[in-house]
Amino acid sequence: MAFVTRQFVRAMSSSSAASAAAKKIMVKHVTVIGGGLMGAGIAQVAAATGHTVVLVDQTEDILAKSRKGIEESLRRVAKKKFAENPKAGDEFVDKTLSSISTSTDAASVVHSTDLVVEAIVENLKVKTELFTRLDKFAAEHTIFASNTSSLQITSIANATTRQDRFAGLHFFNPVPLMKLVEVIKTPMTSQKTFESLIDFSRSLGKHPVSCKDTPGFIVNRLLVPYLLEAVRLYERDLVPDYRRLYTSCLLPHCISGRVATLSASEAQVPTGLDDKRV
Ligand SMILES: NC(=O)c1ccc[n+]([C@@H]2O[C@H](COP(=O)([O-])OP(=O)(O)OC[C@H]3O[C@@H](n4cnc5c(N)ncnc54)[C@H](O)[C@@H]3O)[C@@H](O)[C@H]2O)c1
Repeated sequence: MAFVTRQFVRAMSSSSAASAAAKKIMVKHVTVIGGGLMGAGIAQVAAATGHTVVLVDQTEDILAKSRKGIEESLRRVAKKKFAENPKAGDEFVDKTLSSISTSTDAASVVHSTDLVVEAIVENLKVKTELFTRLDKFAAEHTIFASNTSSLQITSIANATTRQDRFAGLHFFNPVPLMKLVEVIKTPMTSQKTFESLIDFSRSLGKHPVSCKDTPGFIVNRLLVPYLLEAVRLYERDLVPDYRRLYTSCLLPHCISGRVATLSASEAQVPTGLDDKRV
C-alpha cells in the first residue's frame, strides 16, 4: 500500500511539474522599446538567437541609426564566428537583420508579442507612462520587463494591471558580449513569469541570476562599495594609479568575471538581499 501511495505521489508530482513547465511562456516574439545602447544590443542578441524582434523608438532617424549599429556589430560577430566561411557570415548577418523590424508606435506592435523589454530613458515617470499605455494594448499572456539599472521594478509594475507578469531583466553593456543577466523578481512576479524569463535569458546564450527587487540588484550593489574602496586606496596614497586599478582589475572582476559565473543560488547567498530597501 505504501508503495502504491509513493508511486501515486511521484506520478502526481512529476505531472504537476510537467504542467507547471507547460504553462511557462516560450518567448518567440520580442518587442524591445528603446533603440539606444542597451535596446539595440538586446534586439541584436534576441534576433541572432532565433527570435523575431520589433525594435521601437521615438523617431525613424533614431531607428535607422540603431539598425546601422546592429548591422556593424553583427558584422564584427560574423567576422570572428565565421572566419573560415565569410559567405555563412553574410547569411548570418542577413538572416538576423531580417528578423528585426522597427516601429515608432509601441502600442500598435505589442498585441502579438510574448515579451516586452523596455530599455528607454532612466526616468520613472516616463517608464510608468509607457507601461500603463502598453498594458491596454498587449496580449493577455505578454510579459513586461524593464532593463532599469536603478529604479524599483515594483514601482514600475504598479503602473500596470499585470504585476504578476512583470519583472526586471537587467542586461549589461555591451549586451552582445556580456553573459550575465539579472532576473529581478518583485513580490508580485509569478513563478511562471520568473521561470519564463530565466528560460528566455538562457535561450539568448546568457547566464541568468535571480535577485529580489532591491537597490542595485546584485552587480551594482557589489560594484559601488568596490569602487569606493578603490577611491579610498587612491586617496590614502596606497596605490599609485587609480585608473589602472579601475580598468584592469575591478570592472572585469566584478562584471564579466566571477559574478558572471555564479549560479543563481550562489549569487543570492552573499548578497543577503531582501525586500527592505536599505
Ligand atoms: N548604458 C548602460 O550601461 C546600461 C546598463 C544596464 C541597464 N541600463 C538601463 O537601460 C535603459 C536604457 O539605457 P541606454 O544606455 O540604452 O540609454 P540610451 O539613451 O542609449 O537609449 C535610450 C533610448 O530610448 C529612447 N526612448 C526614450 N523614451 C522613449 C519612449 N517613450 N519610447 C520609445 N523610446 C524611447 C531614446 O530615444 C533612446 O534611443 C536605462 O533604463 C538604463 O538604466 C543601461
